[in-house]
Amino acid sequence: MKRPNITLVMVSSLNGRITSGNTNANQWWASKEDQRHFYSLLQQAQLIVMGSKTFEASRKERILSPQTLRVILTRNPKKYQKETIPGQIEFSDESPKRLTSRLAKAGYKNMLLVGGGEANTLFFKANLVDELLLTIEPLIFGTGKSLIADGSFSTRLKLKKVTKLNKQGTLLLHYVR
Ligand SMILES: NC(=O)c1ccc[n+]([C@@H]2O[C@H](COP(=O)([O-])OP(=O)(O)OC[C@H]3O[C@@H](n4cnc5c(N)ncnc54)[C@H](OP(=O)(O)O)[C@@H]3O)[C@@H](O)[C@H]2O)c1
Repeated sequence: MKRPNITLVMVSSLNGRITSGNTNANQWWASKEDQRHFYSLLQQAQLIVMGSKTFEASRKERILSPQTLRVILTRNPKKYQKETIPGQIEFSDESPKRLTSRLAKAGYKNMLLVGGGEANTLFFKANLVDELLLTIEPLIFGTGKSLIADGSFSTRLKLKKVTKLNKQGTLLLHYVR
């Protein structure tokens, strides 16, 4: 069974930070144009996967829908048992490989991976990221979390398309494997 095509979508500073300082929210620095692009992908997605810290950071903005399954990666799914809604939001400690093969059997063809850095590393280590949609905001943050958490792997990608999203120079980079 063919596994879902996995697209990672992230916004980062010029120096690869996905958060600024100690705050978990990214809304204040991501451009309007990037947010529009991101929310349109979310709306179209049937399957969205993220790490539990990203889930916690985006709790207030979360809108569930029966058309979209959200899978949250956590080493402790029991902690979230009460929040589980089958087919809409699930909490999993499966490896990326096991998770994607289960979801392939369930009929999912595409997966949107939306971070954060730890979740990204799990998927890159398993060699499962097919596409990367990376928005680079023209900002530099001295502190903050990285696009990719530490991990021992390397992946080569090919640039397919560059779109300049605004006058300030926000770039949307589309990479494929
Ligand atoms: N700029 C952007 O585009 C963007 C996108 C997404 C997120 N973010 C930001 O990034 C931050 C979160 O990133 P992050 O790297 O700290 O965390 P993360 O990747 O969102 O989540 C990390 C969590 O994933 C779970 N996890 C890690 N390894 C696992 C494994 N082997 N199996 C199952 N679960 C596993 C653990 O959950 P448990 O602790 O529950 O076990 C871990 O704490 C937030 O502040 C968020 O706002 C920014």
